[in-house]
Amino acid sequence: MMEKLGQELQKIKIGRVVDVATRRGDFAANLAKGLGDFQEIIAIDIDEKALAKGREALGADNRIKFECRNAYETGYPEGSFDMVALGNSLHHFEDVAALFQEMKRLLAPGGTLLISEMTADGQEGASLTHALIHRWESDVDRAKGVYHRHTYSSREILDMVEAAGFKVTKSFFDWDKEPKLVKGVEKRLAELEEKLAELKELPDYQELAESVARIKANEAAHGAAFAAALVVFAEK
Ligand SMILES: C[S@@+](CC[C@H](N)C(=O)[O-])C[C@H]1O[C@@H](n2cnc3c(N)ncnc32)[C@H](O)[C@@H]1O
Repeated sequence: MMEKLGQELQKIKIGRVVDVATRRGDFAANLAKGLGDFQEIIAIDIDEKALAKGREALGADNRIKFECRNAYETGYPEGSFDMVALGNSLHHFEDVAALFQEMKRLLAPGGTLLISEMTADGQEGASLTHALIHRWESDVDRAKGVYHRHTYSSREILDMVEAAGFKVTKSFFDWDKEPKLVKGVEKRLAELEEKLAELKELPDYQELAESVARIKANEAAHGAAFAAALVVFAEK
């Protein structure tokens, strides 16, 4: 759990929450654990396989439901949720303006938008290892033709939220120290060379190999931790 985010969530007692682009529900789990009180969390994604893993992991809590929905067009009625959340997913969306419009439509009057997004700035030491791994993985995805851009800067994220017509009420950098997430970073680190070996045919292979060397050097010097995220609370 992110420490400052946890402190903020504790103060919030809320009804219905939607966690957009939830994958296996990691951010939704943080919300469930952190919120002072809530009625229901609907965790949505377009990837049915990831949702199935989320149901397996969090299914015991009957206040959390996983639904297969497209974030651009969820199909829920306007104003359905008191909180609309998005964790580490902005940089996976090609049309962020359309994503924000749908999130705004879903939010009830007086409701809270919550974004937590790994940033391009603010990464150093052990956190930089994760940020570099993420950067490398997004380079690999793009080299294979999958949409996955580098992360945004904190300024770009705040500008996007404001451009969509939201008013930012609070924002801060935070670090998720959840051991499961740190283990995940270590696993990705251990797999880098194996993955690299499968990319020999790509025109960008040399650059990708150099990046792996840079990541390993950073890990040797500073270790590995989950990267810094910008947390933004906003309202319509
Ligand atoms: C980095 S992952 C999400 C991480 C997740 N929030 C967490 O806390 O671990 C990005 C997710 O965005 C989802 N996604 C991408 N485009 C989507 C769309 N149009 N609608 C819903 N989900 C989408 C992907 O399927 C993927 O699971």
